[in-house]
Amino acid sequence: MVVLHQGPSLVIHTPAKLNLFLEVLGKRPDGYHSLETVMVSVGLYDSLVFHEIESNQTRLNCHRCESRPVVENNAFPTLPAGPDNLVVRAAGLLRQLTGCERGVRIDLLKRIPMQAGMGGGSSDAAATLVGLNQLWGLGLESQTLHRLAAQLGSDVNFFLDSPIAAVCRGRGEVVETVRLRSRLHSVVVCPASGLSTSEVFQKWSDETRPTESVAEFINQLQCGSLSHRDVHNALERPAQELNKNVDQTLFNLRRIASGPVGMSGSGTSCFALCQTSREARGLASRLRADRSQRVFAVSTRT
Ligand code: C5P
Repeated sequence: MVVLHQGPSLVIHTPAKLNLFLEVLGKRPDGYHSLETVMVSVGLYDSLVFHEIESNQTRLNCHRCESRPVVENNAFPTLPAGPDNLVVRAAGLLRQLTGCERGVRIDLLKRIPMQAGMGGGSSDAAATLVGLNQLWGLGLESQTLHRLAAQLGSDVNFFLDSPIAAVCRGRGEVVETVRLRSRLHSVVVCPASGLSTSEVFQKWSDETRPTESVAEFINQLQCGSLSHRDVHNALERPAQELNKNVDQTLFNLRRIASGPVGMSGSGTSCFALCQTSREARGLASRLRADRSQRVFAVSTRT
């Protein structure tokens, strides 16, 4: 997360994530699922601009900055700017906790695809907690922001500190930083239609045991020996059952990429790891021939 002061405004650029490994360990009594997942933050950003206003309200303006895929039906997910938006909910939690009645206008410039498993909404929520804590001078400590983050969603804690890579456990909110030996490069393909995270989790069943070990995966990641295996994501099968684009996207990537291929989070975006950023850009320009999908060449942050 990059925080910039521009005159009276605060600007935050907040990244997307990819899940390089995702294992579901089981269903919890609270309805969530226990996870072990390795996430990396990548150089594709939403931007939030915070301005104080003379009122006691939170006003959110959303601007879609991403290229719109060419699709015949209305499959492109819409972006709600009302009380359900995680940005508005994050501001509400801060108000509830501190009693702050200052007003804010937030311009959200959306570039991270939605319902794509890239954490855009969670990243925006984390940016809002950090941004308003500064803009309103609330002085909340990291531990308190993390408590609020966990109430907003399972991935929000990851984005609060935005480590380059981390293993996340619990329902995703317990974050432990992982050191990467070098930058990772990938091409990401995002089909026009998205998936609801909760529907994908509901469709998951534990018949695909035994589970894969995150420790072994991290070891391979840190030794740079990932190239011989595919990306493990226990949500891939349920996502494929719910959205046929996932299957097709993985198939297309496996046909042209030489590195590991997999789906991020609960889908629908899929990616291939590449040896270099040049290779990622080359694959991206080939994949862009299909204008029904969005394609990004991204690297982990430095
Ligand atoms: O935590 P978040 O709001 O992002 O999750 C969205 C939905 O995904 C949850 O309401 C839940 O149905 C499902 N989920 C889950 N187990 C997790 C994370 C999310 O079942 N670890």
